[in-house]
Amino acid sequence: MPQETISEIEVLIRARYPIIYVLSWEEARVHNFIAKIAQKRNKKVFQWSYTTGIVPLGTMLQLRKNTSVSTQDPLAALNEVMEQVEPAIYVFNDFHPFLAKNNFAIIRRLKEIAQHLKDSYKSIIVVSPILSIPPELEKEITVVDFPLPNLQDMTFLLAKIISDVADNPNIHIELQGESKEHLLQAALGLTWNEAENVLAKIMVANNGRLREEDVNMVFSEKKQIIRKSGLLEYFETQDDLGRVGGLEELKEWLKKRRMAFSDKARQFGLPSPRGLLLLGVQGCGKSLCAKAVSSLWRMPLLRLDVGKMFGALVGSSEESIRRAIVTAESIAPCILWIDEIDKAFAGISGAASTDSGTSARVFGTFLTWMSEKQQPVFVIATANDVTHLPPELLRKGRFDEIFYIDLPGVAERTDIFKIHLLKRSRKPQQFDVQSLARACEGFSGAEIEEAIISSLYDAFYRQAELTTQDIRASLASTVPLSKTMAEHIGYLRNWVQGRARNASSVVPEESEGKRKMEISDFIDPPAKK
Ligand SMILES: Nc1ncnc2c1ncn2[C@@H]1O[C@H](COP(=O)(O)OP(=O)(O)O)[C@@H](O)[C@H]1O
Ligand SMILES: [Mg+2]
Repeated sequence: MPQETISEIEVLIRARYPIIYVLSWEEARVHNFIAKIAQKRNKKVFQWSYTTGIVPLGTMLQLRKNTSVSTQDPLAALNEVMEQVEPAIYVFNDFHPFLAKNNFAIIRRLKEIAQHLKDSYKSIIVVSPILSIPPELEKEITVVDFPLPNLQDMTFLLAKIISDVADNPNIHIELQGESKEHLLQAALGLTWNEAENVLAKIMVANNGRLREEDVNMVFSEKKQIIRKSGLLEYFETQDDLGRVGGLEELKEWLKKRRMAFSDKARQFGLPSPRGLLLLGVQGCGKSLCAKAVSSLWRMPLLRLDVGKMFGALVGSSEESIRRAIVTAESIAPCILWIDEIDKAFAGISGAASTDSGTSARVFGTFLTWMSEKQQPVFVIATANDVTHLPPELLRKGRFDEIFYIDLPGVAERTDIFKIHLLKRSRKPQQFDVQSLARACEGFSGAEIEEAIISSLYDAFYRQAELTTQDIRASLASTVPLSKTMAEHIGYLRNWVQGRARNASSVVPEESEGKRKMEISDFIDPPAKK
């Protein structure tokens, strides 16, 4: 129960704040809490809606006879509040349309009532999901956010569901400790009803089972919320850490934080992880890792579209980033993935003169949020190009860690071959992966994957099974980006020194001598095309 919210509302009522505006989608839950306060304070409690007029709270609204036709009109309802003498709370549901501009009479009447209520034991509580307060009433109305159910509420909800079905022998709740917490955490951000529905849905779909794996069904409920926000995309992924070759340091870091969003971690004194910046060579698994974190931590992945943010919508960008942040926070804990954030900054430095600083302001809004955020929204940003990354982004306190992802070394490439052969239903032991790995120095994971796919085409065309030789041929015909972009990679390696931590425990061994000499040549950023 949002105990603080109840007591806040109660305090406001006792302090004779005349009009309290409770922001919430959960009318029924709010009603419940208000009923409790009314009972405690020994007041009557009524509710008003445009369809029912003023009726006692808790009236069976389905019945036609339980309406008060004479008070359906909002002005008549307000007059009624004025005339009543008993101590009472009046809950006005969805009153916001009547507070919109040009409802002169209602706005004026409320102002008069506010004065009157201060000297009475009556209060008006407006309950609505939308905040709409005319300037005339700004000083008379106090706004209270009614929070969505927290972990404790969810635990209570689950216990209730379990006890409701306790005598059904077909129901198996396979949930304890960590699994239970993961599932309930996934449900945070949903309303009480949404959470209850989705848990019931899982049990129906799984023949009465409730398991940690079902967390995905909870996420799909959240998709509904994301869909309505333009900049964010709910990203579903099958990729897990098992599909990432090499990058042991990064994997270790991520594994260590698997339970870092739990209550236990808070009690232990750990802060929630804030974010991760992945820098590095294109095609080496940055985006892949972002996706894998979502599976590992069992948190939904939201992708923020940087292109859209700074694209055609320049004027509305500030508003959109704010909305994206609010949406992400509303379904927290979650991962906010900003792929190729460097593109946004290439935009800022280039466009500053043309969009009169909007991009810079959007970026400012985002940075401020990053350092001040309280909600467990874990930010993963990736960047290929570091030349435009602003120093503010790299400052301590924004990200927990900055990792540099380099081209894979020979052992890592062996791993990557195995992963992608398996992914395409081939048995790695039937191939000479070691020699293949040695044959593709300077290749990225993406290029290795491409080589395997292209050799599969060749084999399929010849109507033969894939062989090591096919892959070798395909590797031989590829010029890796690291050749054509040697300058960029050299610059990048130099730049990350002292700024980022290596994601791999091994240095790409065979490249040691040669590439180090390239690095020392590069001090200035390579010219941009
Ligand atoms: N370390 C790796 N292990 C396995 N596959 C990889 C690895 N790096 C890249 N790949 C393959 O290449 C694809 C593209 O990589 P991606 O993560 O998009 O690169 P980046 O975001 O760093 O440019 C991935 O989806 C994956 O299939
Ligand atoms: Mg990428």
